[in-house]
Amino acid sequence: MGSEVPPVYIGLKGIYVAKTSLSYIDGERGKLIYRGYSIEDLAEHSTFEEITYLLWFGKLPNKRELSEFKENLASEREIPDEVISIISKLPRNAHPMDILKTGVASLGPFDPDLPSIWGQHIHEKRAENLKIAMRILSKMPTIMAYFYRMKENKDIVHPRKDLNHAANFLYMMWGREPNDLEAKLMDVALILHADHGFNASTFACLVTASTLSDLYSAIVSGISALKGPLHGGANEQALRMLMEIGSPDNAREYVKGKLERKERIMGFGHRVYKAYDPRARILKKYAEMLAKETKQEKLFNTALEVEKVMIELLGRKGIFPNVDFYSGQVYHMLGIPTEIFTPIFAISRASGWIGHVLEYWEQNVLIRPRALYIGPMEAKYIPIENRI
Ligand code: SDX
Repeated sequence: MGSEVPPVYIGLKGIYVAKTSLSYIDGERGKLIYRGYSIEDLAEHSTFEEITYLLWFGKLPNKRELSEFKENLASEREIPDEVISIISKLPRNAHPMDILKTGVASLGPFDPDLPSIWGQHIHEKRAENLKIAMRILSKMPTIMAYFYRMKENKDIVHPRKDLNHAANFLYMMWGREPNDLEAKLMDVALILHADHGFNASTFACLVTASTLSDLYSAIVSGISALKGPLHGGANEQALRMLMEIGSPDNAREYVKGKLERKERIMGFGHRVYKAYDPRARILKKYAEMLAKETKQEKLFNTALEVEKVMIELLGRKGIFPNVDFYSGQVYHMLGIPTEIFTPIFAISRASGWIGHVLEYWEQNVLIRPRALYIGPMEAKYIPIENRI
């Protein structure tokens, strides 16, 4: 090893490892754009299908393109009977992210296009990969909804083609069509979670894809990474925390106690944002509206107090609410079970995961960093009979 010790960037903090045109995060000013469009504009005016088209194809679709894209997605929602059977055999108390991971992994072997593109040129088969991409994106909500219905001992509700992505997911979960507000809020949540630069789960997808493995395997890597409480799993933890706090009056003592014990407050802080996460700002508005509609102001006011105390204590360190702090409240007030929060994140982020894999495959380079070796050198082998 040379004399000079190279710098080591634990966790790749602040390191640029590729270029992308999909999304940009301005961490200092708390801004997020997808292909140049502000997340505020997209949340207000767009739909999940439209922003997925934007992320995958680089432009907003015209009427014909969007209608065709939506039709193609909707036609791929059903999953093979064999995969339904696999899901039905999984333990009902398994974490839904493990069900989602198993379900997506089980889809791969049944995909008719995979065998023909497997191998050294898989990254050049864009047409086939787009068909696979649509299958994965469209089938993930179905896997989750079917598992949820089985867990509740209810008949599974098969997908409908006349509902958009968000509304169809709720329909398969609830067995009834969502009202306009419910459908709109789910669509906004899917838009907000769709992409976010090289977050841990997106990077996990790219590491797998960069070996020229397949899209199913890459998405399984992403689901596995997103499950963690430091990443997508924080939305579930943040809501459980608010329930535990119980009322605004308990917030200050609870937060101070956790910080004194060096514990993390889930839903706060971010590797890139050192300002308020713009997605949290949008979700906060909907959480406030839903709190009034569903008479759950106490939960929302508790969140407001936690936010106030956290910004008072850690705002100067750049720690503010992130997307996970208010998303859980919106899902909870929509009547979605807490353990389904992170799978919803995955259902949405599959759009960005796939978009980044398709983009990275255009100039694929195997991702293989180095580790600085600090172990012993030239150790002498000692036969086992001579070891103490
Ligand atoms: C998502 O990357 C993405 O884009 C992710 C995401 C996406 O869309 O894909 O935005 C989604 O994952 C949002 C983040 C959800 N996770 C959480 O809410 C979990 C709680 N947050 C933290 O664990 C933390 O903020 C991270 C993991 C998100 C980021 O941490 P970093 O960048 O690794 O920074 P760090 O852990 O080194 O923290 C720096 C300091 C530490 O204090 P000191 O040791 O310097 O004294 O800030 C403190 C930390 O203790 N800190 C917190 C805190 N977050 C950071 N202290 C209390 N509560 C927190 N939430």
